[in-house]
Amino acid sequence: MTTNVKFPKGFLWGGATAANQCEGAYNVDGKGLTIADISPGGKQRLGLLMSGDLPLEINEEKYAYPNHAGIDFYNRYEEDIALFAEMGFKTFRMSISWARIFPNGDDQTPNEAGLAHYDKVIDTLLKYNIEPTITMSHYETPLNLVKNYGGWKNRELIGLFEKYARTILERYHTKVNYWMTFNEINTGVFGSFFSTAMRNATEQDNFQALHNQFVASSLATKIAHELNPELKVGCMSIYATMYAYDCNPDTVMAKEKQNRLFNYFCNDIQVRGEYPSYALAYFKEKGIDLEIAEGELELLKAHTVDYLSFSYYMSSAFSTDPELTKSSGNFFGGTKNPFLKASEWGWEIDPVGLRIALNDLYGRYGVPLYISENGLGAIDKVEADGSINDTYRIDYLEKHITEMGKAINEDGVDLIAYTPWGCIDLVSASTGEMSKRYGFIYVDLDDEGNGTMARSKKASFDWYKEVISKNGL
Ligand code: BG6
Repeated sequence: MTTNVKFPKGFLWGGATAANQCEGAYNVDGKGLTIADISPGGKQRLGLLMSGDLPLEINEEKYAYPNHAGIDFYNRYEEDIALFAEMGFKTFRMSISWARIFPNGDDQTPNEAGLAHYDKVIDTLLKYNIEPTITMSHYETPLNLVKNYGGWKNRELIGLFEKYARTILERYHTKVNYWMTFNEINTGVFGSFFSTAMRNATEQDNFQALHNQFVASSLATKIAHELNPELKVGCMSIYATMYAYDCNPDTVMAKEKQNRLFNYFCNDIQVRGEYPSYALAYFKEKGIDLEIAEGELELLKAHTVDYLSFSYYMSSAFSTDPELTKSSGNFFGGTKNPFLKASEWGWEIDPVGLRIALNDLYGRYGVPLYISENGLGAIDKVEADGSINDTYRIDYLEKHITEMGKAINEDGVDLIAYTPWGCIDLVSASTGEMSKRYGFIYVDLDDEGNGTMARSKKASFDWYKEVISKNGL
């Protein structure tokens, strides 16, 4: 059972989604194609995208594209937001699809139909007193910027993103207080196609792309604060608590090196405003030479974020023993942790790891923290009477919320928000599957695209509603 955990008044309970995984309507009202639109569904998805073998075109004869229809949030947002309101959401994290606003990413003028759509979504949220939290870029780079610019290693993307950010900030700054620039920016360290929109990238490319995103993020933060100094702009990283598998100091040191590159590097720059010394040493060792324009380092320093947000799904055990590393089924590699159970997709479940993460990040940075994603991807069974008894999901979330409560009450962490991922079932990012469900709300749709898309409440719906109404108690 949940222990007596007190959450601060005004705590932002809610849920999170991304445009490309829920909106569907991938080619309507002037929207251009994005990298998500050419990503096929299925367990082979990430391998294909990283391999460089996949053409940057839609090939419907060969592949299925679940993101094209999503869960039709584009047309059903009113019904869905009413359900979020029924659960008592205080905030809803969503993304704006860059290609709805600038279809090719480099257009002269914005697409008014795209802006008009988000006007309606945002106004619906406000009607229910739900505070929107908007991610500017969530794995949705316009495809043209990959094909004709080579993705984020191209410095021209800084200016193009600045223009997009200015457009949406000017349009919504009186309605939206919470913003995030790049989703899970640190996946770029290892060359994620979704993050940096590049394939077959070198390490030099990865760090150049990240630098360009840091600059773009600082420019967006600058614009936001010029419009209204009270706006809150955050960075967003994926955080995986990293344990050394054994206490051999050499393992611990090697783990630290991996840890700082993955868990700290981006946050260090976006929160503290400068490249950390370990990164400069790493660049030197690897022969990485970044192109940094005059004034950019000053810009990073002057326009740091107001809060730090992160997704947390699992921890990772680190070993230098190649035999042990082979045993892993975890998304991040690493070694199988004998103390933890894993989800059906092999993601190791570690609620205490979340408390450790909160302490680590708050201790290091001292800025408000926002858990922008967390949750259990699982197969749900619809019973004959239509009910869905997702007790495993309740158990997962309850344990994580309990640890959040301890971090706030026993450790003094300033945690401001919790938006579990996929509060309504949506298309998985890593596999494009519908069957990997996270939601409190079930969507009748299978991996082949069959189903009515009707929405229904899972057992976790009422449970989360109660958690929110009692402010976590
Ligand atoms: C995060 C992403 O990595 O994890 C989301 O920001 C994603 O876009 C979520 O959906 C869960 O991952 P998956 O692969 O289960 O959808």
